[in-house]
Amino acid sequence: MALEHPITIALSKGRIFKDSVPLLRHAGIEPLDDPESSRKLILDTNHPNVRLLIIRATDVPTYVQWGAADLGVAGKDVLLEHGGEGLYEPLDLRIARCRMMVAGPKGWQPRGGRLRIATKYVNSARAYYAGLGQQVDIIKLYGSMELAPLVGLADLIVDLVESGNTLRANGLEPLGEAIMEISSRLIVNRAAWKTKHPTVMHIIERLREVVDEESQR
Ligand code: PRP
Repeated sequence: MALEHPITIALSKGRIFKDSVPLLRHAGIEPLDDPESSRKLILDTNHPNVRLLIIRATDVPTYVQWGAADLGVAGKDVLLEHGGEGLYEPLDLRIARCRMMVAGPKGWQPRGGRLRIATKYVNSARAYYAGLGQQVDIIKLYGSMELAPLVGLADLIVDLVESGNTLRANGLEPLGEAIMEISSRLIVNRAAWKTKHPTVMHIIERLREVVDEESQR
């Protein structure tokens, strides 16, 4: 029996959920509800042993770290902020892809002095500027970073860019090369990796097959 152990998978609503559904289907797992129309936080699946938790993207690593979920799907951006403690990250699912970038007002030029950088991605931004040997003040925000340079809260932002539409709509543009390429990863609780190994490996292998197929297209 391929899915012999009970498995709980943590996912966030929106893009990650939508892009995860076809991958999970390949592993024989079909959600019985759609989180866009249901307010349920625990979704049953076609498989009696498998359930899905629908939680905030930033909370996914926490649920998996503490074993409230065995598996999860989380963006690399979120994992870098979490720190990855108690987790394995065995598979890049190559979904929800975007880039982490520095952005600022169109035509922005450095004016000397210490820069203020607004971001949700404090660890990544700090590591990036430390790598450049540049001292900056990091201002932690929880969303809508694009606003910060427009109202004088910060000089620049570090944010995710996919189409670039949000930056453009707010008179901002990316500065320089991407800090890093972002995609969502499968994460696994370390205890579940051992105690539910055959089931966890079955799911990983099925997911790996479909990710490999997709990447060859
Ligand atoms: C992300 C990101 C940007 C936007 C980029 O926000 O923070 O605001 O998407 O996408 P684009 O380049 O295609 O316009 P998200 O919608 O995930 O919400 P958030 O503000 O809560 O991060």
